[in-house]
Amino acid sequence: MPGTCVVGLQWGDEAKGKIVDLLGHDCDIVVRYNGGANAGHTVVVNGKAFKLSLLPTGVIRPGVISVIGNGVVVYPPRFLEEVDSLAQGGIDVTGNLFVSDHAHIIFPYHIEEERLLESGSEGKIGTTGRGIGPCYQDKVGRRFGIRMGELLNEAHLRERLRFIVPFKNRLLTAFANGHGPSVRSFDSETIAEEYLGYAQRLKPFVRDTSRLLQDALAAGKRLIFEAAQGSLLDVDHGTYPYVTSSSSLPSGIWGGAGVPAKFITRIIGVVKAYTTRVGQGPFPTELTDGPDGIGERIRRVGREYGTVTGRPRRVGWFDAVAVRYTATLSGADEITLMLLDVLSGLTELKICTAYELDGQQLTHFPSDAYQLERCQPIYETLPGWREDITGIRKWADLPTAARRYVERIRELVGLKVSVVSVGPDREQTIMV
Ligand code: IMP
Repeated sequence: MPGTCVVGLQWGDEAKGKIVDLLGHDCDIVVRYNGGANAGHTVVVNGKAFKLSLLPTGVIRPGVISVIGNGVVVYPPRFLEEVDSLAQGGIDVTGNLFVSDHAHIIFPYHIEEERLLESGSEGKIGTTGRGIGPCYQDKVGRRFGIRMGELLNEAHLRERLRFIVPFKNRLLTAFANGHGPSVRSFDSETIAEEYLGYAQRLKPFVRDTSRLLQDALAAGKRLIFEAAQGSLLDVDHGTYPYVTSSSSLPSGIWGGAGVPAKFITRIIGVVKAYTTRVGQGPFPTELTDGPDGIGERIRRVGREYGTVTGRPRRVGWFDAVAVRYTATLSGADEITLMLLDVLSGLTELKICTAYELDGQQLTHFPSDAYQLERCQPIYETLPGWREDITGIRKWADLPTAARRYVERIRELVGLKVSVVSVGPDREQTIMV
Protein backbone atom coordinates (compact mmCIF):
# COMPACT_ATOMS: atom_id res chain seq x y z
CA MET A 1 0.00 0.00 0.00
CA PRO A 2 2.49 2.69 -1.07
CA GLY A 3 0.20 5.72 -1.52
CA THR A 4 -3.02 6.74 0.20
CA CYS A 5 -4.84 9.93 -0.69
CA VAL A 6 -7.10 11.70 1.79
CA VAL A 7 -9.47 13.94 -0.11
CA GLY A 8 -12.49 16.02 0.88
CA LEU A 9 -15.63 15.28 -1.11
CA GLN A 10 -17.50 18.53 -0.39
CA TRP A 11 -16.48 22.22 -0.42
CA GLY A 12 -13.55 21.85 1.97
CA ASP A 13 -13.23 21.86 5.75
CA GLU A 14 -14.32 18.22 6.02
CA ALA A 15 -11.82 17.58 8.86
CA LYS A 16 -9.34 15.81 6.58
CA GLY A 17 -6.58 16.75 9.01
CA LYS A 18 -7.99 14.40 11.61
CA ILE A 19 -8.00 11.44 9.19
CA VAL A 20 -4.44 12.17 8.04
CA ASP A 21 -3.43 12.38 11.67
CA LEU A 22 -5.13 9.04 12.47
CA LEU A 23 -3.31 7.36 9.59
CA GLY A 24 -0.05 9.03 10.60
CA HIS A 25 1.19 6.11 12.72
CA ASP A 26 1.01 3.94 9.62
CA CYS A 27 2.97 6.10 7.23
CA ASP A 28 6.43 7.50 6.59
CA ILE A 29 5.72 10.65 4.58
CA VAL A 30 2.76 13.06 4.38
CA VAL A 31 2.59 15.11 1.19
CA ARG A 32 0.62 18.20 0.23
CA TYR A 33 0.22 18.64 -3.50
CA ASN A 34 -2.10 21.64 -4.05
CA GLY A 35 -3.26 24.96 -2.65
CA GLY A 36 -1.37 27.05 -0.16
CA ALA A 37 -2.14 28.95 2.99
CA ASN A 38 -5.81 29.06 1.97
CA ALA A 39 -6.32 25.68 3.65
CA GLY A 40 -6.99 25.33 7.33
CA HIS A 41 -6.28 22.20 9.33
CA THR A 42 -6.85 21.89 13.02
CA VAL A 43 -5.45 18.82 14.71
CA VAL A 44 -6.23 18.26 18.36
CA VAL A 45 -3.83 16.05 20.30
CA ASN A 46 -4.49 15.53 24.02
CA GLY A 47 -6.72 18.57 24.06
CA LYS A 48 -4.06 20.77 22.46
CA ALA A 49 -5.08 22.34 19.12
CA PHE A 50 -2.54 22.91 16.34
CA LYS A 51 -3.74 25.17 13.54
CA LEU A 52 -1.92 24.80 10.24
CA SER A 53 -2.69 26.32 6.90
CA LEU A 54 0.39 25.67 4.79
CA LEU A 55 2.30 22.84 6.42
CA PRO A 56 1.01 19.27 6.04
CA THR A 57 -0.75 17.79 9.07
CA GLY A 58 1.98 15.15 9.22
CA VAL A 59 4.38 17.56 10.93
CA ILE A 60 2.58 16.85 14.20
CA ARG A 61 3.67 13.17 14.17
CA PRO A 62 7.17 12.41 15.41
CA GLY A 63 9.20 10.45 12.88
CA VAL A 64 6.96 11.34 9.93
CA ILE A 65 8.48 13.34 7.05
CA SER A 66 6.31 16.13 5.62
CA VAL A 67 6.59 17.32 2.06
CA ILE A 68 5.16 20.38 0.34
CA GLY A 69 5.04 19.42 -3.31
CA ASN A 70 5.62 21.52 -6.43
CA GLY A 71 1.87 22.00 -6.89
CA VAL A 72 1.60 24.09 -3.72
CA VAL A 73 2.02 27.86 -3.70
CA VAL A 74 4.14 29.02 -0.79
CA TYR A 75 3.98 32.26 1.14
CA PRO A 76 7.37 32.23 2.90
CA PRO A 77 6.46 34.35 5.96
CA ARG A 78 3.52 32.05 6.65
CA PHE A 79 5.73 28.96 6.27
CA LEU A 80 8.20 30.31 8.81
CA GLU A 81 5.44 31.46 11.18
CA GLU A 82 3.99 27.94 11.27
CA VAL A 83 7.43 26.39 11.79
CA ASP A 84 8.02 28.80 14.69
CA SER A 85 4.65 28.24 16.30
CA LEU A 86 5.17 24.46 16.19
CA ALA A 87 8.58 24.96 17.80
CA GLN A 88 6.90 26.93 20.57
CA GLY A 89 4.52 23.99 21.07
CA GLY A 90 7.50 21.64 21.42
CA ILE A 91 7.55 20.28 17.84
CA ASP A 92 10.84 20.73 15.97
CA VAL A 93 10.39 20.11 12.24
CA THR A 94 14.00 20.61 11.15
CA GLY A 95 15.08 17.64 9.05
CA ASN A 96 11.47 16.40 8.84
CA LEU A 97 9.95 18.99 6.55
CA PHE A 98 10.80 19.65 2.90
CA VAL A 99 9.40 21.99 0.29
CA SER A 100 9.77 21.54 -3.46
CA ASP A 101 12.24 23.77 -5.31
CA HIS A 102 9.52 23.93 -8.02
CA ALA A 103 6.80 25.27 -5.72
CA HIS A 104 5.79 28.78 -6.72
CA ILE A 105 6.15 31.71 -4.35
CA ILE A 106 3.46 34.16 -3.29
CA PHE A 107 4.62 37.78 -3.23
CA PRO A 108 2.85 40.80 -1.71
CA TYR A 109 1.73 41.98 -5.17
CA HIS A 110 -0.27 38.75 -5.53
CA ILE A 111 -2.15 39.50 -2.35
CA GLU A 112 -2.72 43.09 -3.45
CA GLU A 113 -4.05 41.97 -6.83
CA GLU A 114 -6.51 39.67 -5.16
CA ARG A 115 -7.62 42.39 -2.73
CA LEU A 116 -8.39 44.72 -5.62
CA LEU A 117 -10.27 42.10 -7.64
CA GLU A 118 -12.29 40.92 -4.67
CA SER A 119 -13.18 44.44 -3.52
CA GLY A 120 -15.19 45.16 -6.65
CA SER A 121 -18.91 44.55 -6.61
CA GLU A 122 -18.82 42.16 -9.57
CA GLY A 123 -16.92 38.98 -10.31
CA LYS A 124 -16.27 38.23 -6.66
CA ILE A 125 -15.35 34.64 -5.78
CA GLY A 126 -15.16 35.12 -2.03
CA THR A 127 -11.53 33.97 -1.86
CA THR A 128 -9.42 33.65 1.26
CA GLY A 129 -7.35 36.70 0.25
CA ARG A 130 -4.06 34.80 0.46
CA GLY A 131 -2.88 35.54 -3.08
CA ILE A 132 -3.50 31.97 -4.22
CA GLY A 133 -5.26 32.68 -7.55
CA PRO A 134 -2.85 35.42 -8.74
CA CYS A 135 0.16 33.24 -7.92
CA TYR A 136 -1.21 30.29 -9.90
CA GLN A 137 -1.98 32.70 -12.76
CA ASP A 138 1.68 33.71 -12.82
CA LYS A 139 2.73 30.07 -12.69
CA VAL A 140 0.80 29.06 -15.80
CA GLY A 141 1.44 32.44 -17.48
CA ARG A 142 5.20 31.68 -17.05
CA ARG A 143 6.56 35.22 -17.42
CA PHE A 144 6.14 36.39 -13.83
CA GLY A 145 6.33 33.21 -11.77
CA ILE A 146 9.19 32.63 -9.32
CA ARG A 147 9.88 29.23 -7.78
CA MET A 148 11.40 28.27 -4.41
CA GLY A 149 14.66 27.18 -6.04
CA GLU A 150 15.11 30.68 -7.52
CA LEU A 151 14.83 32.23 -4.08
CA LEU A 152 18.18 30.72 -3.18
CA ASN A 153 20.06 32.50 -5.97
CA GLU A 154 20.44 36.12 -4.88
CA ALA A 155 21.56 37.72 -8.16
CA HIS A 156 18.93 35.83 -10.13
CA LEU A 157 16.14 36.74 -7.71
CA ARG A 158 17.03 40.43 -7.79
CA GLU A 159 17.08 40.38 -11.58
CA ARG A 160 13.70 38.61 -11.82
CA LEU A 161 12.07 41.05 -9.40
CA ARG A 162 13.50 44.05 -11.26
CA PHE A 163 11.75 42.73 -14.37
CA ILE A 164 8.48 41.69 -12.74
CA VAL A 165 7.67 44.39 -10.18
CA PRO A 166 7.25 47.35 -12.59
CA PHE A 167 4.81 45.24 -14.64
CA LYS A 168 2.91 44.40 -11.51
CA ASN A 169 2.71 48.03 -10.42
CA ARG A 170 1.21 48.99 -13.77
CA LEU A 171 -1.20 46.08 -13.65
CA LEU A 172 -2.34 46.92 -10.12
CA THR A 173 -2.96 50.55 -11.02
CA ALA A 174 -5.07 49.42 -13.96
CA PHE A 175 -7.04 47.02 -11.75
CA ALA A 176 -7.64 49.73 -9.16
CA ASN A 177 -9.27 52.05 -11.68
CA GLY A 178 -12.94 52.10 -10.91
CA HIS A 179 -12.54 49.70 -8.00
CA GLY A 180 -12.34 52.39 -5.35
CA PRO A 181 -9.58 51.34 -2.95
CA SER A 182 -6.21 52.97 -3.21
CA VAL A 183 -3.54 50.74 -4.65
CA ARG A 184 -0.22 49.75 -3.10
CA SER A 185 2.89 50.16 -5.16
CA PHE A 186 5.91 47.88 -4.74
CA ASP A 187 9.65 48.32 -4.91
CA SER A 188 11.68 45.42 -6.29
CA GLU A 189 14.69 46.02 -4.02
CA THR A 190 12.56 46.10 -0.87
CA ILE A 191 10.86 42.84 -1.82
CA ALA A 192 14.22 41.28 -2.72
CA GLU A 193 15.69 42.19 0.70
CA GLU A 194 12.66 40.81 2.51
CA TYR A 195 12.58 37.55 0.55
CA LEU A 196 16.35 37.02 0.69
CA GLY A 197 15.93 37.22 4.45
CA TYR A 198 13.37 34.40 4.29
CA ALA A 199 15.65 32.46 1.94
CA GLN A 200 18.32 32.21 4.65
CA ARG A 201 15.92 30.35 6.88
CA LEU A 202 14.18 28.40 4.11
CA LYS A 203 17.33 26.97 2.54
CA PRO A 204 17.50 23.77 4.62
CA PHE A 205 13.90 22.94 3.70
CA VAL A 206 14.14 23.32 -0.09
CA ARG A 207 14.61 20.07 -2.06
CA ASP A 208 13.85 18.28 -5.29
CA THR A 209 10.87 16.67 -3.59
CA SER A 210 9.72 14.66 -6.64
CA ARG A 211 12.98 12.74 -6.47
CA LEU A 212 12.76 12.48 -2.71
CA LEU A 213 9.30 10.89 -3.07
CA GLN A 214 10.29 8.61 -5.92
CA ASP A 215 13.31 7.37 -3.92
CA ALA A 216 11.07 6.86 -0.91
CA LEU A 217 8.65 4.76 -2.96
CA ALA A 218 11.53 2.71 -4.35
CA ALA A 219 12.63 2.08 -0.75
CA GLY A 220 9.15 0.81 0.16
CA LYS A 221 8.06 3.83 2.19
CA ARG A 222 4.37 4.54 2.71
CA LEU A 223 3.01 7.91 1.64
CA ILE A 224 -0.15 9.84 2.47
CA PHE A 225 -1.27 12.59 0.11
CA GLU A 226 -3.26 15.28 1.83
CA ALA A 227 -5.55 17.19 -0.53
CA ALA A 228 -6.22 20.80 0.39
CA GLN A 229 -9.71 22.21 -0.17
CA GLY A 230 -12.56 19.95 -1.27
CA SER A 231 -13.31 18.22 -4.56
CA LEU A 232 -16.13 20.65 -5.33
CA LEU A 233 -13.50 23.44 -5.28
CA ASP A 234 -11.30 21.66 -7.87
CA VAL A 235 -10.45 24.10 -10.67
CA ASP A 236 -11.61 21.71 -13.41
CA HIS A 237 -14.34 19.61 -11.88
CA GLY A 238 -15.68 21.87 -9.12
CA THR A 239 -18.39 24.51 -9.24
CA TYR A 240 -16.39 26.78 -11.58
CA PRO A 241 -15.79 29.72 -11.36
CA TYR A 242 -16.49 29.47 -7.61
CA VAL A 243 -13.53 27.20 -7.00
CA THR A 244 -9.90 27.46 -6.00
CA SER A 245 -7.09 27.65 -8.58
CA SER A 246 -5.62 24.17 -8.17
CA SER A 247 -6.51 20.50 -8.63
CA SER A 248 -7.75 19.32 -5.28
CA LEU A 249 -8.87 15.92 -6.58
CA PRO A 250 -6.38 13.02 -6.39
CA SER A 251 -5.66 13.72 -10.07
CA GLY A 252 -3.57 16.65 -8.78
CA ILE A 253 -1.02 14.29 -7.21
CA TRP A 254 0.88 13.34 -10.36
CA GLY A 255 1.29 16.96 -11.42
CA GLY A 256 1.56 18.50 -7.95
CA ALA A 257 3.94 16.03 -6.32
CA GLY A 258 5.59 14.21 -9.19
CA VAL A 259 4.25 10.82 -8.11
CA PRO A 260 2.62 8.70 -10.84
CA ALA A 261 -0.99 7.65 -10.29
CA LYS A 262 -0.08 3.94 -10.23
CA PHE A 263 1.35 4.43 -6.73
CA ILE A 264 -1.95 5.69 -5.31
CA THR A 265 -3.57 2.51 -4.10
CA ARG A 266 -6.13 3.81 -1.60
CA ILE A 267 -8.35 6.86 -1.77
CA ILE A 268 -10.23 7.93 1.32
CA GLY A 269 -13.05 10.41 0.75
CA VAL A 270 -13.78 12.57 3.77
CA VAL A 271 -17.25 14.03 4.27
CA LYS A 272 -19.03 15.93 6.96
CA ALA A 273 -22.37 14.56 8.21
CA TYR A 274 -23.82 17.80 6.78
CA THR A 275 -22.42 20.31 4.27
CA THR A 276 -20.56 23.61 4.56
CA ARG A 277 -19.16 26.10 2.09
CA VAL A 278 -17.16 29.33 2.45
CA GLY A 279 -17.28 32.08 -0.14
CA GLN A 280 -19.61 32.57 -3.09
CA GLY A 281 -21.17 29.94 -5.32
CA PRO A 282 -24.17 27.62 -5.59
CA PHE A 283 -25.12 25.49 -2.61
CA PRO A 284 -28.47 23.72 -3.15
CA THR A 285 -28.93 22.36 0.40
CA GLU A 286 -27.95 25.59 2.19
CA LEU A 287 -30.00 26.32 5.31
CA THR A 288 -31.01 29.95 5.33
CA ASP A 289 -33.47 29.69 8.19
CA GLY A 290 -32.27 32.67 10.21
CA PRO A 291 -30.66 33.24 13.60
CA ASP A 292 -32.96 30.79 15.42
CA GLY A 293 -32.85 28.16 12.69
CA ILE A 294 -31.14 24.80 12.30
CA GLY A 295 -28.39 26.28 10.09
CA GLU A 296 -27.27 28.65 12.84
CA ARG A 297 -27.45 25.86 15.40
CA ILE A 298 -25.21 23.57 13.32
CA ARG A 299 -22.81 26.49 12.74
CA ARG A 300 -22.59 27.18 16.47
CA VAL A 301 -22.27 23.55 17.63
CA GLY A 302 -19.88 22.62 14.80
CA ARG A 303 -17.88 25.86 15.26
CA GLU A 304 -18.30 26.44 11.56
CA TYR A 305 -16.11 29.50 11.11
CA GLY A 306 -13.28 29.59 8.56
CA THR A 307 -9.91 28.58 10.05
CA VAL A 308 -8.11 30.97 7.70
CA THR A 309 -10.44 33.96 7.48
CA GLY A 310 -12.78 33.51 10.47
CA ARG A 311 -15.78 33.94 8.12
CA PRO A 312 -18.96 32.13 9.19
CA ARG A 313 -19.33 29.09 6.95
CA ARG A 314 -22.54 28.57 5.03
CA VAL A 315 -24.24 25.46 6.40
CA GLY A 316 -26.68 22.96 4.87
CA TRP A 317 -28.00 19.41 4.84
CA PHE A 318 -25.98 16.48 3.51
CA ASP A 319 -26.07 16.46 -0.29
CA ALA A 320 -25.84 12.89 -1.54
CA VAL A 321 -26.00 13.98 -5.20
CA ALA A 322 -22.87 16.12 -4.81
CA VAL A 323 -20.99 13.49 -2.82
CA ARG A 324 -21.86 10.72 -5.30
CA TYR A 325 -20.38 12.95 -8.01
CA THR A 326 -17.13 13.64 -6.17
CA ALA A 327 -16.83 10.08 -4.86
CA THR A 328 -16.89 8.86 -8.46
CA LEU A 329 -14.54 11.56 -9.76
CA SER A 330 -12.00 11.05 -7.01
CA GLY A 331 -12.07 7.27 -7.26
CA ALA A 332 -12.73 7.03 -3.52
CA ASP A 333 -12.67 3.50 -2.08
CA GLU A 334 -14.42 4.43 1.15
CA ILE A 335 -15.74 7.42 3.03
CA THR A 336 -15.14 8.67 6.54
CA LEU A 337 -18.07 10.54 8.06
CA MET A 338 -17.04 13.46 10.23
CA LEU A 339 -18.76 15.65 12.84
CA LEU A 340 -21.73 13.30 13.33
CA ASP A 341 -21.97 14.52 16.96
CA VAL A 342 -22.89 18.03 15.73
CA LEU A 343 -26.29 16.72 14.58
CA SER A 344 -27.26 15.31 18.01
CA GLY A 345 -30.41 16.88 19.43
CA LEU A 346 -32.10 17.64 16.09
CA THR A 347 -35.58 16.11 15.87
CA GLU A 348 -35.22 15.19 12.23
CA LEU A 349 -32.49 15.23 9.60
CA LYS A 350 -32.67 15.71 5.87
CA ILE A 351 -30.55 14.23 3.11
CA CYS A 352 -30.73 15.53 -0.44
CA THR A 353 -31.24 12.56 -2.78
CA ALA A 354 -31.92 14.38 -6.07
CA TYR A 355 -32.45 17.88 -7.51
CA GLU A 356 -35.33 19.41 -9.35
CA LEU A 357 -34.43 21.56 -12.34
CA ASP A 358 -37.05 23.08 -14.66
CA GLY A 359 -39.63 20.54 -13.55
CA GLN A 360 -37.28 17.57 -14.16
CA GLN A 361 -35.73 15.37 -11.53
CA LEU A 362 -31.94 15.16 -11.68
CA THR A 363 -30.05 12.43 -9.90
CA HIS A 364 -26.66 13.52 -11.26
CA PHE A 365 -24.68 16.65 -10.43
CA PRO A 366 -25.00 19.23 -13.22
CA SER A 367 -21.67 20.01 -14.83
CA ASP A 368 -22.45 23.73 -14.91
CA ALA A 369 -22.47 25.83 -11.72
CA TYR A 370 -25.03 28.21 -13.23
CA GLN A 371 -27.42 25.27 -13.64
CA LEU A 372 -26.65 24.09 -10.14
CA GLU A 373 -27.66 27.55 -8.90
CA ARG A 374 -31.19 26.88 -10.19
CA CYS A 375 -31.49 23.37 -8.72
CA GLN A 376 -33.91 22.75 -5.86
CA PRO A 377 -33.03 19.91 -3.47
CA ILE A 378 -35.35 16.93 -3.09
CA TYR A 379 -35.07 15.64 0.45
CA GLU A 380 -35.60 12.46 2.34
CA THR A 381 -36.30 12.95 6.06
CA LEU A 382 -34.86 10.71 8.76
CA PRO A 383 -35.42 10.72 12.51
CA GLY A 384 -32.76 12.42 14.65
CA TRP A 385 -31.39 11.32 18.04
CA ARG A 386 -31.21 13.14 21.36
CA GLU A 387 -28.21 11.46 22.99
CA ASP A 388 -24.77 13.06 23.27
CA ILE A 389 -22.60 10.69 21.22
CA THR A 390 -19.20 12.30 21.81
CA GLY A 391 -18.20 9.60 24.32
CA ILE A 392 -19.20 6.64 22.12
CA ARG A 393 -16.36 4.52 20.68
CA LYS A 394 -18.23 1.53 19.21
CA TRP A 395 -20.55 1.39 16.24
CA ALA A 396 -23.03 -0.82 18.13
CA ASP A 397 -23.32 1.77 20.93
CA LEU A 398 -24.53 4.57 18.62
CA PRO A 399 -28.25 5.37 18.89
CA THR A 400 -30.32 3.46 16.32
CA ALA A 401 -31.27 6.68 14.52
CA ALA A 402 -27.60 7.68 14.18
CA ARG A 403 -26.73 4.30 12.68
CA ARG A 404 -29.66 4.56 10.28
CA TYR A 405 -28.49 8.01 9.18
CA VAL A 406 -24.95 6.74 8.48
CA GLU A 407 -26.26 3.65 6.71
CA ARG A 408 -28.50 5.74 4.48
CA ILE A 409 -25.52 7.88 3.47
CA ARG A 410 -23.56 4.71 2.72
CA GLU A 411 -26.39 3.46 0.47
CA LEU A 412 -26.86 6.76 -1.33
CA VAL A 413 -23.16 7.36 -1.96
CA GLY A 414 -22.50 3.72 -2.74
CA LEU A 415 -19.31 3.40 -0.68
CA LYS A 416 -18.55 1.82 2.67
CA VAL A 417 -18.20 4.15 5.66
CA SER A 418 -14.97 3.15 7.37
CA VAL A 419 -14.82 5.76 10.11
CA VAL A 420 -17.38 7.83 12.00
CA SER A 421 -15.99 10.79 13.89
CA VAL A 422 -17.82 12.03 16.99
CA GLY A 423 -15.52 14.83 18.15
CA PRO A 424 -12.28 16.59 17.30
CA ASP A 425 -9.92 14.49 19.44
CA ARG A 426 -8.03 11.49 18.05
CA GLU A 427 -9.86 9.28 20.54
CA GLN A 428 -13.33 10.41 19.47
CA THR A 429 -13.38 8.02 16.56
CA ILE A 430 -15.48 4.96 15.74
CA MET A 431 -13.94 2.40 13.39
CA VAL A 432 -16.90 0.90 11.58
P1 IMP B 1 -8.93 30.84 -2.84
O1 IMP B 1 -8.47 29.42 -2.77
O2 IMP B 1 -8.43 31.68 -1.69
O3 IMP B 1 -8.65 31.46 -4.17
O4 IMP B 1 -10.53 30.84 -2.69
C1 IMP B 1 -11.38 30.28 -3.68
C2 IMP B 1 -12.60 29.63 -3.03
O5 IMP B 1 -12.20 28.47 -2.33
C3 IMP B 1 -13.32 30.50 -2.00
O6 IMP B 1 -14.70 30.20 -2.04
C4 IMP B 1 -12.74 30.04 -0.68
O7 IMP B 1 -13.60 30.29 0.41
C5 IMP B 1 -12.59 28.55 -0.96
N1 IMP B 1 -11.55 27.91 -0.16
C6 IMP B 1 -10.22 27.99 -0.35
N2 IMP B 1 -9.58 27.23 0.54
C7 IMP B 1 -10.52 26.66 1.30
C8 IMP B 1 -10.47 25.72 2.38
O8 IMP B 1 -9.43 25.24 2.80
N3 IMP B 1 -11.68 25.38 2.90
C9 IMP B 1 -12.85 25.83 2.42
N4 IMP B 1 -12.95 26.69 1.41
C10 IMP B 1 -11.78 27.09 0.86
